[in-house]
Amino acid sequence: MDHRRLMTEAIDLTRHTRPHPNPRVGAIVLDAAGSVVARAVHEAPGYEHAEALALASAGESARGGTVVVTLEPCNHAGLTPPCTEAILSSGVSSVVIGARDPDTRVDGSGIARLRAAGIEVVEDVAPAEVEAVDPAYFHHRRTGRPLVTLKWAATLDGQAAAADGTSQWITSVESRLDAHVLRADSDAIVVGAGTLIADDPALNVRIPDYEGPEPMPIVVAGRRPLPTGARLWGRGAEIYAPMPLAIDQEVTVLPGPGGVDLAAMVGVLGARGVVSILVEGGPTLAGALWRLGLIDRIVVYLGAVVAGGVGRTVLDGVWETLGDARRGEIVVVERLGPDIKFVFVPGGE
Ligand SMILES: NC(=O)c1ccc[n+]([C@@H]2O[C@H](COP(=O)([O-])OP(=O)(O)OC[C@H]3O[C@@H](n4cnc5c(N)ncnc54)[C@H](OP(=O)(O)O)[C@@H]3O)[C@@H](O)[C@H]2O)c1
Repeated sequence: MDHRRLMTEAIDLTRHTRPHPNPRVGAIVLDAAGSVVARAVHEAPGYEHAEALALASAGESARGGTVVVTLEPCNHAGLTPPCTEAILSSGVSSVVIGARDPDTRVDGSGIARLRAAGIEVVEDVAPAEVEAVDPAYFHHRRTGRPLVTLKWAATLDGQAAAADGTSQWITSVESRLDAHVLRADSDAIVVGAGTLIADDPALNVRIPDYEGPEPMPIVVAGRRPLPTGARLWGRGAEIYAPMPLAIDQEVTVLPGPGGVDLAAMVGVLGARGVVSILVEGGPTLAGALWRLGLIDRIVVYLGAVVAGGVGRTVLDGVWETLGDARRGEIVVVERLGPDIKFVFVPGGE
């Protein structure tokens, strides 16, 4: 049996699922002769887990067969019963696992339970590939913090907006569609008060025929009064502010240097089970998050356009000396229509 090929297929099944705060999981069931008899993914919290769903669909044909599952089966009851029970009662004789689940409620206990019951377990078949389709889940479960992605669109000469605040649109329709996929993959989107006031953004997912979850909008407020008629209020946006505000929205007060205590805000969101955050600007908020070391990766869309002068740079703040710059790795380079997209992951200090 080609474990790696089957695992790649199971991983591919999960690419378009959005089950946060749960992980993306795919499962394939083979009968005793090695033929595929069922495939399934975990769609959303409260829905059946992938391996339980695939085994239910395989029924008696799973007996003596194999389950190939991207993530270690859970051994605890949550919104659904433990997956190890579904595996044991199905009568399969072996389980092939892509990666261990770092969630402290699992972390090897699912594997131990299966082995103790006499099931043959092949583990760690493709840990890097499984993590690559759902980096936010692994990051959240290891650190307790959401994966924070900063996104910006810029001119080739590094400007995020003109001096008069106009920035729509620096990039092409192709880049903007890609950015909507980023939104769809995020649990929350954060903007600063400046962007709220300048752009009145909707921050929703605008992909044709999209029916998945919408990210929760979050506004980082400061000293200026917020507009009462902003479009985000209709979407139930949450506000983080350095002081209490007289506004008809949920406000979390977290005072810190320079306004909101941003590290505390990220911590609060992680503790609430928010697995991924997309920061959509502007330069003041983005620069502050960057200097605090709170950004885990940056997605850059570079438009085929030159501003020809300084308007608003992508990150506000002063670059004092070369040693302050942080190097890292560009892990993705992609052409999107006339534009270029980069994904940058900062390295160690
Ligand atoms: N090209 C792009 O990708 C892109 C993306 C987004 C926005 N933009 C553009 O960026 C411009 C707005 O950017 P901006 O820099 O003025 O505003 P911003 O970064 O969206 O918001 C910054 C404001 O957030 C508040 N704040 C509270 N706590 C803070 C903290 N700890 N650190 C930093 N800010 C804190 C402050 O409000 P108070 O001032 O009220 O105290 C601060 O001025 C617009 O022109 C928009 O079009 C471009």
